[in-house]
Amino acid sequence: MSNVFLNGVWLPIEKATVSVLDRGFIFGDGVYEVIPVYHRRPYRMKPHLLRLQHSLNGIRIKNPYSDNEWVDLINKLISLQNFDDQSIYFQITRGVAPRAHNFPKDEVSPTVFMMSSPLKRSTKQQVEQGIRVVSAQDERWLHCNYKTISLLGNILASQYACDNDAMEVVQFRNGFLTEASSSNVIIVQNGELVIPQKNHLILHGITMEVITEIAQQEGIAVRYEDIPESAVRKADEILITSSTKEVLAATMLDDQPVGQGVPGPVFKRLYTALQKDIFPANE
Ligand code: PDD
Repeated sequence: MSNVFLNGVWLPIEKATVSVLDRGFIFGDGVYEVIPVYHRRPYRMKPHLLRLQHSLNGIRIKNPYSDNEWVDLINKLISLQNFDDQSIYFQITRGVAPRAHNFPKDEVSPTVFMMSSPLKRSTKQQVEQGIRVVSAQDERWLHCNYKTISLLGNILASQYACDNDAMEVVQFRNGFLTEASSSNVIIVQNGELVIPQKNHLILHGITMEVITEIAQQEGIAVRYEDIPESAVRKADEILITSSTKEVLAATMLDDQPVGQGVPGPVFKRLYTALQKDIFPANE
């Protein structure tokens, strides 16, 4: 029985209930974050809180807590679980109000929900052999830089990957790479990382940011540019990043091998360096 947080109260998940008039339930009107926790230590918590603020600003919900209050809540949530590696999920919705598309006229308290689940890290096989991905048109809305709980486009894309025995979907909009259904996509060209421009068409992933930091430390060049579909199909390597997947190599794209069809040298260097960043004590 895990302990969750709902509107200021800690309680077992079975007891946590929200009104059917919650705008999260009715409209998907809210934002969320996912923070990985290793050995009970949240990894890169600050940038997640910064992105949360960016998402809240984007949909005009006032942040119910200061960063210090969020840090305390996250640490308490971690301490209440009986497992060490965790995936912290928290969401804020616009709150409960009679159903109307526009914002409620009277001030409404946002609904705040937080839970922790055991962090399911990538398997040895996924790391060593890479994963299969399929391509699709990006049919989502135009504010993908906000981490909103309205995820229908991402869900349909993720299911498309499942239906095709793939772990992720590599999406293109107007012929250019955007991202995956719940991860970012980076390509490797001649030993350099090429990343889609950080604009409204993709979520600015914290893991992608860590990977760019690590790449620079490793002397691997990083460029941000619009990446045409043809460049993705010819890439030497394709990397998939997220807080829960860390970094994985996509080795098959639409049943065609990516590069040599095995995780490449740039992936291996970045994967190893990322493990050192996550577990600094092991150095
Ligand atoms: N997803 N792009 C999308 C659409 C995502 O949903 C995510 C993360 C990312 C990677 O961002 P980050 O590196 O900050 O986790 C990119 C989380 C893990 C989720 O929805 O569960």
